[in-house]
Formats: sequence, structure tokens, C-alpha cells
Amino acid sequence: MGENMIRLAKENANQNIIGVEPLLNGQCNLADYCLNNFVKNIYICTDPVQIFFKKYPKLNFNCCYILFPDPWHKKKHNKRRLINPEFLQKLVMRTKTVYFLSDDYDYYLNVKSSVLKLKKVKIVLSSKKFRTANTKYLLRAKRLRNKLYYLTIDKE
Ligand SMILES: C[S@@+](CC[C@H](N)C(=O)[O-])C[C@H]1O[C@@H](n2cnc3c(N)ncnc32)[C@H](O)[C@@H]1O
Repeated sequence: MGENMIRLAKENANQNIIGVEPLLNGQCNLADYCLNNFVKNIYICTDPVQIFFKKYPKLNFNCCYILFPDPWHKKKHNKRRLINPEFLQKLVMRTKTVYFLSDDYDYYLNVKSSVLKLKKVKIVLSSKKFRTANTKYLLRAKRLRNKLYYLTIDKE
């Protein structure tokens, strides 16, 4: 429901938070929360992030959180994963820090290998835990006692 966006919005009242969520259910829940709780610094983009990037080529970001992106477990579906070398290159060109969290080890390794392929940027990579809200999928992972894989991709 955008738990981490709500946390960011409350902790950074003078900054704008952009939530990119193509699913209607997620958009409605977040909009509903913002309206009922007077949260005024969240902007919801209803397109997939790839389209959002095309529509707003000049927007840059302090940071971007990618929390539990759909893992697409089956090998033949891996190419549907949001983070691949091409997407990550576009993302880091526009973002100072990318925070990635997943309980899928294979996806985590994929992201690390995509970082190694980045061009034109100097990156500091860290696997230290970072702060997030308890999102739906973070709670699920904790409930299942899954190991959590954190990655912070910081542009120097
Ligand atoms: C497994 S859920 C994780 C939701 C939330 N981050 C959490 O931790 O509970 C994956 C989310 O990614 C969103 N998503 C999938 N493809 C996307 C895309 N191309 N652009 C933006 N969001 C996308 C889905 O709509 C869904 O909300």
C-alpha cells in the first residue's frame, strides 16, 4: 500500500515523493491514505516505471527504493525482472542512491552483476541493512523467516 512512501513523506515533509505503481489497487489504497491523513507530498504515477522515465526524461532523484520487485522465479521468466543492466543504467544516471531489497537470492545476485556492468558512473556498493517501513512483502518475508538481501547502490 505504499508503506515506505508514506514513511518517507512523513519524515521528509519538505520533499516530494513519487510513487510509481501501475496497479489500480495499490494506487487507490495509497491515494485513499493520503487524502484521509493529509499527506500532501506524495505524487502517484500510474504508469510502469519504464514509461514514467520516458515521459519525464529530465527528472532526477535523490534516491529510489525498489523493495521486493516481482521475482519471476522461473528461469524462462527472468527477463521480465524490472532490474536488468539496461534499466539499472538508466536509473543510476538519474538517481544518487538506489536501495534494493528482496528475499530472492537469485535476483539479488542478478542485481549485483548488473551493477558490475554499469558504465559512466563510479559506484559504491553496500549490503548493509537500510531503513524501510514494514511493507506488505517485508512482513511476509519476516513471517516466513526468509533471509533478506539488502543492496545500496550509491553513485560517487
Ligand atoms: C511484489 S510487489 C512488492 C510491493 C511493495 N514494494 C512491498 O514491499 O510490499 C511488486 C510491486 O511492483 C509493482 N510493479 C511491477 N512492475 C512494475 C513496473 N514496471 N513499474 C513500477 N512498478 C511495478 C507491482 O505493481 C507491485 O506493487
